[in-house]
Amino acid sequence: MTRTVKQLRLLPCAALCALACAGNQAPAPATAASASPPATQTADSAPDSAPGAEAAAQANLPAPEWLPLEAREMLSAGMQRHGEEMMLLLVSVMMLQHEDTELLAQQVASTPRLGRPAPGESGTLGSLLPARFFELQDELQARARAMADAARTKDDSRIVRAYGQLAETCVSCHSVYLNPDEHADLPGD
Ligand code: HEC
Repeated sequence: MTRTVKQLRLLPCAALCALACAGNQAPAPATAASASPPATQTADSAPDSAPGAEAAAQANLPAPEWLPLEAREMLSAGMQRHGEEMMLLLVSVMMLQHEDTELLAQQVASTPRLGRPAPGESGTLGSLLPARFFELQDELQARARAMADAARTKDDSRIVRAYGQLAETCVSCHSVYLNPDEHADLPGD
């Protein structure tokens, strides 16, 4: 790490979280149950949460074999916040909460980046990672800044495009991480 890890402040996001969780609330008790015709839906057929919700709650990338465990743990320490930020960003975009979008995008943009290895450096985490990893780190910061700029304009179609581009960078880097050889020659975008 070339930069100090700043304590990133979690946004006062109770309202956003409430929105994000709204789909998971238990149904209201059926007060007129005795007068109703027999229910065709059993309790089992009403899932508690959306498909994939469990996977999202425990978001983890599978461990690639090319990177030693110690290196993966160092990366993980800097990564855990991304998933949550991206979900809150999505909610803010959908709900047209421009100020929240701007703050969250700035938060993503200020994620500490891993320093590029010096020529000939070996034995450090940076020296184990492909060059593309560092490009995508920079791209993430640039696209997160672009998203904050878009939020300031309050132009919703621009904001949602910026979100899509940011998500592309997340996916590109995870793909590089899991399959570094397949991505060695990918163009910048
Ligand atoms: C420069 C590369 C890079 C970028 C860009 C990137 N990630 Fe990651 N991400 C990683 C790596 C490497 C890991 C695996 C680290 C590990 O083992 O935890 C990871 C892991 C994760 C995890 C699993 C958390 C964990 O502790 O394993 C989540 C969730 C995640 N990233 C979300 C995101 C989101 C959302 C974005 C975009 C806003 C993003 N990442 C952008 C490289 C990146």
